[in-house]
Amino acid sequence: MTKPLTNKVALVTGSSRGIGKQIALTLAARGANVVLTATNADLLDEVAQEITAASSPKPLTIPAELTDEKSIIALVAAVEESFGRLDILVNNAGITHAAQLEDTSAADYDRVMAINARAPFILCRQALPMLKKAPRGFIINIASVVGVKGYPNQSAYTASKHALRGMSAALAEELAETEITVHLLCPGGVDTDMVSNVRPDIPKQKLINPKEIAEIVDYLTTHKGNAIIEEIHIRRKASNPWF
Ligand SMILES: NC(=O)c1ccc[n+]([C@@H]2O[C@H](COP(=O)([O-])OP(=O)(O)OC[C@H]3O[C@@H](n4cnc5c(N)ncnc54)[C@H](OP(=O)(O)O)[C@@H]3O)[C@@H](O)[C@H]2O)c1
Repeated sequence: MTKPLTNKVALVTGSSRGIGKQIALTLAARGANVVLTATNADLLDEVAQEITAASSPKPLTIPAELTDEKSIIALVAAVEESFGRLDILVNNAGITHAAQLEDTSAADYDRVMAINARAPFILCRQALPMLKKAPRGFIINIASVVGVKGYPNQSAYTASKHALRGMSAALAEELAETEITVHLLCPGGVDTDMVSNVRPDIPKQKLINPKEIAEIVDYLTTHKGNAIIEEIHIRRKASNPWF
Protein backbone atom coordinates (compact mmCIF):
# COMPACT_ATOMS: atom_id res chain seq x y z
CA MET A 1 0.00 0.00 0.00
CA THR A 2 1.34 3.47 -0.87
CA LYS A 3 2.28 5.51 2.16
CA PRO A 4 0.76 9.01 2.47
CA LEU A 5 4.08 10.88 2.09
CA THR A 6 5.62 8.70 -0.64
CA ASN A 7 7.66 10.86 -3.08
CA LYS A 8 7.33 13.91 -0.80
CA VAL A 9 10.50 15.58 0.45
CA ALA A 10 10.80 16.83 4.04
CA LEU A 11 13.64 18.92 5.45
CA VAL A 12 13.87 18.64 9.24
CA THR A 13 16.37 20.88 11.04
CA GLY A 14 17.87 19.69 14.31
CA SER A 15 17.19 16.07 13.35
CA SER A 16 20.32 14.60 14.97
CA ARG A 17 18.49 14.04 18.28
CA GLY A 18 15.51 14.99 20.42
CA ILE A 19 12.24 16.16 18.87
CA GLY A 20 13.71 16.63 15.37
CA LYS A 21 14.99 13.06 15.26
CA GLN A 22 11.53 11.69 16.12
CA ILE A 23 9.87 13.92 13.53
CA ALA A 24 12.35 12.67 10.91
CA LEU A 25 11.77 9.00 11.84
CA THR A 26 8.00 9.51 11.69
CA LEU A 27 7.93 11.36 8.36
CA ALA A 28 10.25 8.74 6.86
CA ALA A 29 8.00 5.94 8.17
CA ARG A 30 5.14 7.64 6.33
CA GLY A 31 7.14 7.38 3.10
CA ALA A 32 8.84 10.79 2.86
CA ASN A 33 12.36 11.34 1.58
CA VAL A 34 13.77 13.06 4.62
CA VAL A 35 16.68 15.49 4.64
CA LEU A 36 18.44 15.38 8.00
CA THR A 37 20.44 18.36 9.17
CA ALA A 38 22.27 19.53 12.31
CA THR A 39 25.93 20.24 13.06
CA ASN A 40 26.88 16.77 14.37
CA ALA A 41 27.50 14.65 11.25
CA ASP A 42 28.07 11.43 13.23
CA LEU A 43 24.71 11.66 14.99
CA LEU A 44 23.00 12.46 11.67
CA ASP A 45 24.53 9.30 10.17
CA GLU A 46 23.19 7.27 13.12
CA VAL A 47 19.68 8.64 12.56
CA ALA A 48 20.01 7.90 8.83
CA GLN A 49 20.96 4.29 9.64
CA GLU A 50 17.98 3.98 11.98
CA ILE A 51 15.65 5.21 9.23
CA THR A 52 17.11 2.85 6.63
CA ALA A 53 16.98 -0.09 9.08
CA ALA A 54 13.24 0.59 9.48
CA SER A 55 12.87 0.12 5.67
CA SER A 56 11.95 3.79 5.19
CA PRO A 57 13.36 5.73 2.20
CA LYS A 58 17.10 6.35 2.58
CA PRO A 59 17.50 9.88 3.97
CA LEU A 60 19.94 12.52 2.82
CA THR A 61 22.16 13.98 5.54
CA ILE A 62 23.52 17.51 5.15
CA PRO A 63 25.40 18.95 8.12
CA ALA A 64 24.79 22.70 8.38
CA GLU A 65 25.49 25.48 10.86
CA LEU A 66 22.32 27.49 11.28
CA THR A 67 24.02 30.62 12.62
CA ASP A 68 25.60 30.97 9.17
CA GLU A 69 23.38 32.29 6.36
CA LYS A 70 25.65 30.84 3.66
CA SER A 71 25.39 27.39 5.27
CA ILE A 72 21.58 27.62 5.21
CA ILE A 73 21.54 28.77 1.58
CA ALA A 74 23.83 25.85 0.63
CA LEU A 75 21.59 23.43 2.57
CA VAL A 76 18.45 24.38 0.66
CA ALA A 77 20.36 24.44 -2.64
CA ALA A 78 21.56 20.88 -1.92
CA VAL A 79 17.96 19.75 -1.34
CA GLU A 80 16.97 21.25 -4.70
CA GLU A 81 19.90 19.65 -6.47
CA SER A 82 19.19 16.21 -4.95
CA PHE A 83 15.40 16.09 -5.21
CA GLY A 84 14.26 19.11 -7.23
CA ARG A 85 11.38 19.57 -4.79
CA LEU A 86 10.45 20.28 -1.19
CA ASP A 87 7.05 19.61 0.36
CA ILE A 88 7.64 19.93 4.10
CA LEU A 89 9.97 22.25 6.00
CA VAL A 90 10.22 21.63 9.74
CA ASN A 91 12.06 24.41 11.54
CA ASN A 92 12.87 22.47 14.68
CA ALA A 93 16.52 23.17 15.57
CA GLY A 94 16.85 25.32 18.64
CA ILE A 95 18.92 26.13 21.68
CA THR A 96 18.09 27.67 25.01
CA HIS A 97 20.01 29.84 27.40
CA ALA A 98 19.08 29.53 31.04
CA ALA A 99 20.08 32.64 32.99
CA GLN A 100 18.53 35.72 34.50
CA LEU A 101 18.37 38.64 32.10
CA GLU A 102 21.00 40.58 34.00
CA ASP A 103 23.39 37.63 33.54
CA THR A 104 22.69 37.22 29.81
CA SER A 105 25.23 38.82 27.47
CA ALA A 106 24.40 40.33 24.10
CA ALA A 107 26.39 37.47 22.53
CA ASP A 108 24.22 34.90 24.38
CA TYR A 109 21.08 36.72 23.18
CA ASP A 110 22.34 36.97 19.59
CA ARG A 111 23.18 33.25 19.41
CA VAL A 112 19.76 32.17 20.68
CA MET A 113 18.03 34.57 18.28
CA ALA A 114 20.23 33.45 15.37
CA ILE A 115 19.40 29.76 15.74
CA ASN A 116 15.79 29.98 16.96
CA ALA A 117 14.42 32.93 14.96
CA ARG A 118 16.81 34.13 12.23
CA ALA A 119 17.58 30.65 10.84
CA PRO A 120 13.88 29.70 10.37
CA PHE A 121 13.38 33.08 8.65
CA ILE A 122 16.22 32.39 6.19
CA LEU A 123 15.14 28.77 5.74
CA CYS A 124 11.58 29.83 4.87
CA ARG A 125 12.86 32.45 2.43
CA GLN A 126 15.18 30.00 0.67
CA ALA A 127 12.66 27.13 0.66
CA LEU A 128 9.62 29.09 -0.57
CA PRO A 129 10.32 28.80 -4.31
CA MET A 130 10.31 24.98 -3.99
CA LEU A 131 7.41 24.88 -1.52
CA LYS A 132 5.34 27.00 -3.91
CA LYS A 133 5.77 24.37 -6.63
CA ALA A 134 4.62 21.52 -4.34
CA PRO A 135 0.98 20.39 -4.65
CA ARG A 136 0.72 21.15 -0.90
CA GLY A 137 3.48 22.76 1.08
CA PHE A 138 3.92 22.72 4.84
CA ILE A 139 6.03 24.93 7.06
CA ILE A 140 6.05 23.63 10.61
CA ASN A 141 7.78 25.83 13.13
CA ILE A 142 8.59 24.41 16.55
CA ALA A 143 8.21 27.21 19.07
CA SER A 144 7.48 26.54 22.75
CA VAL A 145 5.10 27.43 25.54
CA VAL A 146 7.41 30.40 25.93
CA GLY A 147 6.30 31.53 22.47
CA VAL A 148 3.04 32.58 24.11
CA LYS A 149 4.07 33.34 27.69
CA GLY A 150 7.18 34.22 29.66
CA TYR A 151 9.37 32.03 31.84
CA PRO A 152 11.88 33.39 34.35
CA ASN A 153 15.55 32.73 33.48
CA GLN A 154 14.60 32.30 29.82
CA SER A 155 14.44 35.87 28.50
CA ALA A 156 16.54 35.33 25.36
CA TYR A 157 14.81 32.02 24.61
CA THR A 158 11.38 33.55 25.24
CA ALA A 159 12.18 36.48 22.93
CA SER A 160 13.30 34.09 20.19
CA LYS A 161 10.14 31.98 20.35
CA HIS A 162 7.88 35.05 20.36
CA ALA A 163 9.80 36.19 17.27
CA LEU A 164 9.25 32.81 15.61
CA ARG A 165 5.54 32.97 16.41
CA GLY A 166 5.25 36.48 14.97
CA MET A 167 7.08 35.54 11.80
CA SER A 168 4.87 32.46 11.40
CA ALA A 169 1.68 34.54 11.66
CA ALA A 170 2.92 37.11 9.14
CA LEU A 171 4.10 34.44 6.71
CA ALA A 172 0.80 32.56 6.98
CA GLU A 173 -0.97 35.75 5.87
CA GLU A 174 1.46 36.25 2.99
CA LEU A 175 0.85 32.67 1.84
CA ALA A 176 -2.91 32.65 2.36
CA GLU A 177 -3.63 32.44 -1.39
CA THR A 178 -1.11 29.63 -1.97
CA GLU A 179 -1.20 25.90 -1.21
CA ILE A 180 1.34 26.38 1.60
CA THR A 181 0.19 26.33 5.21
CA VAL A 182 2.23 27.52 8.17
CA HIS A 183 1.89 25.77 11.53
CA LEU A 184 3.30 26.63 14.94
CA LEU A 185 3.75 24.03 17.67
CA CYS A 186 4.14 25.29 21.24
CA PRO A 187 5.20 22.38 23.45
CA GLY A 188 5.88 22.40 27.15
CA GLY A 189 8.66 20.20 28.59
CA VAL A 190 9.68 17.36 26.26
CA ASP A 191 12.07 14.58 27.28
CA THR A 192 15.23 15.62 25.38
CA ASP A 193 18.79 16.80 26.09
CA MET A 194 17.57 20.40 26.22
CA VAL A 195 15.33 19.80 29.22
CA SER A 196 17.77 17.42 30.94
CA ASN A 197 20.27 20.28 30.86
CA VAL A 198 18.07 23.15 32.07
CA ARG A 199 15.41 21.37 34.15
CA PRO A 200 17.01 18.21 35.59
CA ASP A 201 14.55 18.56 38.50
CA ILE A 202 11.56 17.44 36.35
CA PRO A 203 11.23 13.62 36.42
CA LYS A 204 11.39 12.15 32.91
CA GLN A 205 8.05 10.41 33.35
CA LYS A 206 6.43 13.85 33.78
CA LEU A 207 7.78 15.10 30.45
CA ILE A 208 6.17 14.81 27.02
CA ASN A 209 7.67 12.06 24.84
CA PRO A 210 9.24 13.44 21.61
CA LYS A 211 7.14 10.86 19.73
CA GLU A 212 4.01 12.72 20.84
CA ILE A 213 5.25 15.86 19.05
CA ALA A 214 6.12 13.79 15.97
CA GLU A 215 2.59 12.34 15.94
CA ILE A 216 1.20 15.88 15.68
CA VAL A 217 3.51 16.68 12.76
CA ASP A 218 2.35 13.42 11.15
CA TYR A 219 -1.27 14.50 11.55
CA LEU A 220 -0.65 18.00 10.15
CA THR A 221 1.19 16.72 7.07
CA THR A 222 -1.16 13.87 6.19
CA HIS A 223 -4.56 15.33 7.13
CA LYS A 224 -6.70 15.93 4.06
CA GLY A 225 -9.57 18.37 4.24
CA ASN A 226 -10.47 21.99 4.74
CA ALA A 227 -9.56 22.30 8.41
CA ILE A 228 -6.22 24.01 9.00
CA ILE A 229 -4.74 23.89 12.50
CA GLU A 230 -2.42 26.86 12.71
CA GLU A 231 -1.17 26.84 16.28
CA ILE A 232 -1.06 23.97 18.72
CA HIS A 233 -0.38 24.35 22.43
CA ILE A 234 0.90 21.13 23.98
CA ARG A 235 1.29 21.19 27.73
CA ARG A 236 2.60 18.57 30.11
CA LYS A 237 -0.20 16.84 31.98
CA ALA A 238 1.44 18.06 35.20
CA SER A 239 1.37 21.74 34.20
CA ASN A 240 -1.50 24.22 34.40
CA PRO A 241 -4.25 24.11 31.74
CA TRP A 242 -4.61 26.94 29.21
CA PHE A 243 -1.15 28.30 29.88
N1 LIG B 1 12.60 19.91 24.91
C1 LIG B 1 11.63 20.73 25.24
O1 LIG B 1 11.08 20.68 26.34
C2 LIG B 1 11.10 21.73 24.26
C3 LIG B 1 9.90 22.38 24.58
C4 LIG B 1 9.39 23.31 23.70
C5 LIG B 1 10.05 23.57 22.53
N2 LIG B 1 11.21 22.94 22.24
C6 LIG B 1 11.86 23.27 20.97
O2 LIG B 1 11.93 22.11 20.19
C7 LIG B 1 13.08 22.18 19.34
C8 LIG B 1 13.91 20.91 19.51
O3 LIG B 1 14.33 20.86 20.86
P1 LIG B 1 14.94 19.56 21.55
O4 LIG B 1 14.44 19.54 22.92
O5 LIG B 1 14.76 18.38 20.67
O6 LIG B 1 16.48 20.00 21.60
P2 LIG B 1 17.82 19.17 21.57
O7 LIG B 1 17.60 17.77 21.97
O8 LIG B 1 18.81 20.00 22.29
O9 LIG B 1 18.17 19.18 19.99
C9 LIG B 1 18.43 20.40 19.34
C10 LIG B 1 18.72 20.14 17.88
O10 LIG B 1 19.07 21.39 17.25
C11 LIG B 1 20.33 21.24 16.58
N3 LIG B 1 21.10 22.47 16.61
C12 LIG B 1 21.42 23.22 17.72
N4 LIG B 1 22.20 24.24 17.36
C13 LIG B 1 22.38 24.17 16.01
C14 LIG B 1 23.08 24.97 15.08
N5 LIG B 1 23.80 26.04 15.45
N6 LIG B 1 23.06 24.61 13.76
C15 LIG B 1 22.36 23.52 13.39
N7 LIG B 1 21.66 22.73 14.23
C16 LIG B 1 21.67 23.05 15.53
C17 LIG B 1 21.02 20.13 17.37
O11 LIG B 1 21.97 19.45 16.59
P3 LIG B 1 23.56 19.54 16.77
O12 LIG B 1 23.85 19.65 18.22
O13 LIG B 1 24.08 18.33 16.11
O14 LIG B 1 23.90 20.77 15.99
C18 LIG B 1 19.88 19.18 17.68
O15 LIG B 1 19.61 18.35 16.59
C19 LIG B 1 13.81 23.47 19.72
O16 LIG B 1 13.45 24.50 18.85
C20 LIG B 1 13.29 23.76 21.11
O17 LIG B 1 13.35 25.13 21.42
C21 LIG B 1 11.75 22.02 23.08
